[in-house]
Amino acid sequence: MNPNDELLLEFAPMEGITTAAFRTAHHELFGGADRYYSPFINTGHAFLTRTKDIRDIRPENNETISVIPQLLSNSSADFIDAVLALARIGYSEINLNLGCPSPTVTSKHRGSGFLEDPEKLDRFFCEVFEALPRAESEIGGPLALSVKTRIGFSCPEEAYTLMEIYRNYPFSLLIVHPRTRGELYSGNVHTDIFLDLLRMSRCPVCYNGDLMNTEDVNRILALCAGTGPEENPLRGIMIGRGAIRNPALFRMIRGGAKPSAEEIRRFLDRYLAITAADIREERNRLAKLKDLWTFLGTLFSDSGRYLKKIRKAKTMAAYRAAADDLLANCPIVP
Ligand SMILES: Cc1cc2nc3c(=O)[nH]c(=O)nc-3n(C[C@H](O)[C@H](O)[C@H](O)COP(=O)(O)O)c2cc1C
Repeated sequence: MNPNDELLLEFAPMEGITTAAFRTAHHELFGGADRYYSPFINTGHAFLTRTKDIRDIRPENNETISVIPQLLSNSSADFIDAVLALARIGYSEINLNLGCPSPTVTSKHRGSGFLEDPEKLDRFFCEVFEALPRAESEIGGPLALSVKTRIGFSCPEEAYTLMEIYRNYPFSLLIVHPRTRGELYSGNVHTDIFLDLLRMSRCPVCYNGDLMNTEDVNRILALCAGTGPEENPLRGIMIGRGAIRNPALFRMIRGGAKPSAEEIRRFLDRYLAITAADIREERNRLAKLKDLWTFLGTLFSDSGRYLKKIRKAKTMAAYRAAADDLLANCPIVP
């Protein structure tokens, strides 16, 4: 039996990358992830009015996979309205983004910007959980709320104040990226603080951050097993960049095979085929593929000059030739 069977393997949301097309192609070709999170959707009067958001979340576009929609909000009324709208189309678990570090988001006190005001955050959750039973009775079933959070806005020790708040609410999952807003996505993760939060949490906890290969995963699992509480062990891990770089990473965590160049080719073809139905303009489809290659490129050794050709491609034909060249000539990093 795979020792990681009990652990939830979560595919992180990545705005512009982990679209419904990406998620579907990934699930079909590689599998291994239990659930996929949608990139964030803003709540408020414009909720689910953008074609991009509607396309991404429509159940018809996510038929084969398990998706958790993610919301960006700081208004309990807007949040509950959005949860209800999503529940009406079949989603029973919703995630709140408390991690986005982008200035356009934090300046509106959303994403990790909401962490700056713990009192308001506490009020938000209090109102949301007060309103939830009404929403559940309207829907006729239970609704689960999870949170994806950083450990603070300005300093890592804010994590302890935040945990005092999180401890008061029955989240289905508390996903922690152990960096502050200012640390964006680089520099060391605060593993020590993550372990403290794991010990303190009353709800299931999921680790997120810098898991690039199976060794990284085993290291974090060993750390958590060594120090986590017996009654609330680590519930899951969430991977973003590592699983875009190596789409077979979740499969490998489950003991499966490494990826092959042919598999990557088929994955990209399938992704492109689904994307073609949604994105009419060739240059926009090309831009999506180039975004993917930013991460995928590092899976191959000596890929520099081939990646340059991919980045420079102006037509789909030029892109295909450059991608084929890379796949034929660059070995996958051991
Ligand atoms: C390009 C990009 C887009 C992202 N978009 C989102 C998003 O929409 N929602 C979210 O919660 N996190 C988003 N993130 C953060 C990731 O979900 C994840 O927390 C982060 O990359 C750290 O995990 P990793 O080291 O496994 O990649 C994004 C990250 C990147 C690099």
